This record gives sequence, structure tokens and C-alpha cells, in this order.
Amino acid sequence: MSNIESVLNEIRVFKPSAEFVKQANVSGMGAYRTLADAAQKDYTGYWAKLARENILWRKPFTKTLDESNAPFFKWFEDGELNVSYNCLDKHLATQAEKTAIIFEADDGKVSKINYRDLYARVCQFANGLKSRGIKKGDRVIIYLPMSIEAAVAMQACARIGAIHSVVFGGFSAKSLHERITDAQACAVITADAQMRGGKVMPLKSIVDEALTMEGCDVVKHVIIYRRAGNEMQFNAPRDAWWHDLVAKQKTTCEPEWVGAEHPLFILYTSGSTGKPKGVQHSSGGYLLGAILTMQWVFDYKPTDIFWCTADVGWITGHSYVAYGPLAVGATQVMYEGIPTFPDAGRFWKMIQNHKVTTFYTAPTAIRSLIKLGSDLPKQYDLSSLRLLGTVGEPINPEAWMWYYNTVGQTRCPIVDTWWQTETGCHMIAPLPGAVPTKPGSCTLPIPGIQVAVVDELGNEVGTNQGGSLVITKSFPSQIRTIWGDPERFKKNYFPKEMRGAYLAGDSANRDEDGYIWIMGRNDDVLKVSGHRLGTMEIESALVANPLVAEAAVVGRPHDIKGESIVAFVVLKSARPTEAAKAKEIVEILRNWVSKEIGPIAKPDEIRFGDNLPKTRSGKIMRRLLRAIANGEEITQDVSTLENPAILEQLKEVVR
Ligand code: WTA
Repeated sequence: MSNIESVLNEIRVFKPSAEFVKQANVSGMGAYRTLADAAQKDYTGYWAKLARENILWRKPFTKTLDESNAPFFKWFEDGELNVSYNCLDKHLATQAEKTAIIFEADDGKVSKINYRDLYARVCQFANGLKSRGIKKGDRVIIYLPMSIEAAVAMQACARIGAIHSVVFGGFSAKSLHERITDAQACAVITADAQMRGGKVMPLKSIVDEALTMEGCDVVKHVIIYRRAGNEMQFNAPRDAWWHDLVAKQKTTCEPEWVGAEHPLFILYTSGSTGKPKGVQHSSGGYLLGAILTMQWVFDYKPTDIFWCTADVGWITGHSYVAYGPLAVGATQVMYEGIPTFPDAGRFWKMIQNHKVTTFYTAPTAIRSLIKLGSDLPKQYDLSSLRLLGTVGEPINPEAWMWYYNTVGQTRCPIVDTWWQTETGCHMIAPLPGAVPTKPGSCTLPIPGIQVAVVDELGNEVGTNQGGSLVITKSFPSQIRTIWGDPERFKKNYFPKEMRGAYLAGDSANRDEDGYIWIMGRNDDVLKVSGHRLGTMEIESALVANPLVAEAAVVGRPHDIKGESIVAFVVLKSARPTEAAKAKEIVEILRNWVSKEIGPIAKPDEIRFGDNLPKTRSGKIMRRLLRAIANGEEITQDVSTLENPAILEQLKEVVR
């Protein structure tokens, strides 16, 4: 078995400024090491102390970690708490008037809500749910646009101990049906429609469609937030308007105290094969992870204006919109719409208008905003920013540099945060006042998290050798099981060869400073002439060329080499339609990669598109590209594709 080769040669290092270090929550490498060492010395004692300091427990826990039924780990099991209490009630005595959410609608209208009013609205809605008989342990689907209501709905479920499962508003009736039946949900909270880029996109009609499908008769309640006022069907008594449901409800609601292991939510994540997995999270451990990373990775300060652009339909929108920021008492921005409406300056304008200090978005958004206007940030006053973050995919070093120079104006550290739906919160990310950053690396694990890079037999590989990323010790915020499928949970994340470690499914390498470089998904690794190459490094080489905005590479079976490399490229300028021009650019880019990495990584074929196929959360669908590169019939479900039309372009071979 050969290891994955690392071919990226990135040597730039950025130390945090003395000014940033001075004010940081974890200040300097010494402070980072003190925390990490404390975890080494007494692992459970370390987490127990943090859990006692950061969470308000109704009943204190006496047991920290129960490993007796591994990998079904239990944290703080006999402790009792309520997550919504920790996000809202906690702030009433100290900062009830502080703005909790600054909501900007698609059309630019801004509404703000403070902690007192948010608390009252959550309580009213929680009472409304209770009036419908919804109780602790019931599953509730939330299918809402980005809105204050979405945060209220999630918090209200947490308040009464109901288990929410948020479904992203871009998913189809079929996806909704799949999730409703898997979770056996008794209620759906939705809206008449959502507004995106000036368009009304119906939601309730999609719910209606899903509810006619087999097995969906388990849903007894549909609660509808009136957002757009569009026409829709109303099926009483099943359906209720949100505003009617809360109209006569009290503005207080005693929280339901639950055990720390009580499921806070299920979030479905589509695996590469088979039906989506219902990732089940706990209450206590999950909350702890969200709070700690707000403080450590986002260096949270009470004066911050925090903005995570993720939709609440993704884990990022759970941990860094609905829970983390509220648990630490932050003021946060929430945005209904898309980054390119009315133009590609929307994010920068919002940062200026709301004086955002901490901005967290995805590499795919960064790359597309570079393509649509790399100079646009300069037209806005971004001087309020002090920290930038990314999540969701490896960020190519050149996109990192643009983010650093043009958006952060070389003043703001970038936290490249590696984590997953399954980990609940950041796992590997720089603590910005301590850990120097390197473009393209998510740097070091957060203190307490134990990671390793291993081969297929679970043995650690050497420095700068690629392998599979694992987390060797259980940690509080981790996935507890796959809803209804504990066997799949064990098989998927704790395969025997890994000897008890959590298998992340990503390939990575660790450099001489201990920094982790994510190379892509294990399933996407290329095997060329006996060399195993990760996708990230070849793609980064392509993106480093001034002509290129985005790139994805996949392997295609090859008689001699095993696999040959096919690259799909989005240029900063328009897609070349003239054959001679296209051929010329292909040659420039092939030679470029050959020079940057070596002939081994030189793509055999390069194709151009106006965009790449991406999932709704913005990840490049390399599996689909593999089918295209192989000239196969596309059998995958492309209904969740953001932009199905570009598939035709990517089928065109440059000759
Ligand atoms: C990828 C998102 C490189 C990775 C929080 C992971 C990343 C998957 C990064 C999880 C990063 C996420 N650098 N790759 N900073 N962050 N990924 O479940 O492949 O939507 O396994 O969770 O995204 O995606 P998920």
C-alpha cells in the first residue's frame, strides 16, 4: 500500500500581529500549549472543568465520560440542562437589551431583535408547540428560510426537549419526504415561501407535495410562517399559521430540563452512497463545543458583530448561527438572500453597513466572488473586520491570499476551520491569537482534540506523508449515532482497522510543524502511475494560475497509468468557445501544473465551464464530474444541484 503523496509546496507563514495577540482570548502559543497539555495530562478532567465553567447545569454531572459501550460514548451523562436556557435566559439579567440578531432580508430591509424579545418569542413559540401536544423527544422538521423565525423555531424545540431536524430550503419534496419518514417527525415548521435574489420561491407547496408521499401521514402539524404572502393551500386542522399559534401564548416558558445526552437535533448529511445519514447530536457535549470554539477560534468579544453566512440547514448554521453565538451572548448578522444579489458586492456592503467584526464563509463563496469582482471589496469600508474564517472545503492558497489581502487588508487573521456535521464544532483550526497560519492549512487541532494521519491499516504515517485523517479520542461534541441505524454508525465511522479511532473520511498530511493539510475526500484520491494524489493540491495549482477562478480534478481509468487526470476549470474571464483559443489555454494550464507540481500531476485533459456542479452547501460534486469525464450516463440525483445547466458545457471536450 502506498501513501498519498503531498505535492503542494506552500511556504508562506503569517503570524498574528502583536496587537491581535495582546487582546486574544488565547494569547500566544504558550497559552495554546497550556490548554493542550492540560488535556494530555488529564483528559476527562480537562473537559469536565470546561463543561462546569461554560454551561449552566440544572443538575451538575458527576460522570464525565462513559466509554463502556464504545463507540457509543456518553459525556456528562447524569447532568441536566436546557440548551435554550443557556442561550437566552442566561443573558436576561446581564444584557437583556443587547441586540441578539440583526436580520437583513433579501430586499435589504433590516430588523433587529434583542435578547429579551428573542427570549419572549422563543417562549411563545415553545408554548405554541406545546399547545399542539408536541413534547420532549418528538421529532420536528424545520423547513424555513434564513430568518429570525428559523432561530426561534430551533430554540423553541430545544426549550421543550423536542428534537429538531432542519432541512435546507433548497431541498426537493423527495428529500423532505426521505427525512420526514426516517425521523418519523410529527410536525413540520415551514413558511409560505422564501425570498432569494428578488424571487419568491414557494416552500409550503413543496411540503404539501412531500406530505402526499408514502409514510408522511405521521406528520400531524404544519406550522406556517407568513413570509411572502403568496397563494398556498391551507389544510386545517393540520395546518396553522405561526402568528395564530403564538397570538395568545405567554411570553415565558419553563424549560424542559433534559439529560446531557438527550438528542438536541438530527441533521441529515448525504453520504457518497445510500440514503442520507441522520447525524444525531447530544445536548451537553454539543453545546460545550459550540461555546468553546466561539471563544477560542472566533476569539469572541462582547463588542463583536459576528456574521456566519451559512444557512441554518447546514451544521455551520446550527453551531455558528442558531446556538454558538447566542450561547456566548453575541450580536450576530443573519442574511436571508444570496451573495450575488443585487450584485457581487452584497457581502462587502453588509459588512460595511453592520460593522461586522468577524466574518465566516465558505471557499466556494470566496472563489465565486473573486470571479465576479475581485476589486469589489475595495469599494467598501471593511475596516470593522478583525477576523475572517472559512469552512466547508479546502481553501486553495491563492483564494486564501485574496481573502487575506483584499478582504482582510492584511490585518485580519484567517481561521481555516476543518470540521464536519459529525464533529459538531471546529476540530482543527488556528486559535487566531496564538497559531501562525499557512495558506491552505487548517493548522493545529483545537486544544483537547487528538488527531492522527494513518494508513489503511490504522498505522500513523510519517511527516509530510498523506493518509487518512482520524480523531483518536472521543470528544464531547461528536456524533452519538446515526438516527435509527447504530450499525451503520459503527461501520462508517469506527471501522475495525482504525482501532477505536473516528474515521473522518478525509485525506490529509501533517507537516514538520504538526500542521494539518486537508487533501480532499478519501473517495476522491487519484491514483496516477502508482502515485496517490489528493484533489486539493492539483486544484490549488490550477487556481494559482492568474487565468483560473475555480478548478476540480478527477481521475479517469487509463490503461497504462491506472488513472489519468481530467480537470474542470472555470476561468476568471468568459468560457472560451472558440476551439483554437480553448486549446491554447489548455496548453498554458497543463504546462503550468507540470511546472508547479511536476509532470506527474499534469492533467491529460482540461474542460471549461461557466461554473462547476456543486451541492446546495457549495461543495464541488467530484463524483458527478467523474461520470462526465468517463462519458457515463449521469445516474446520480441532480435535483440538489445548484446549477444543472452547466453539465452540458462540461461534457464538451477541447480538441
Ligand atoms: C470538508 C462542514 C478542508 C471536509 C462543517 C469535511 C474541509 C467535510 C474544511 C464536512 C476545511 C470542511 N478544509 N476541508 N476547512 N471544512 N471540509 O459535514 O471534506 O458539510 O469532511 O461540515 O467538508 O462537510 P460538512
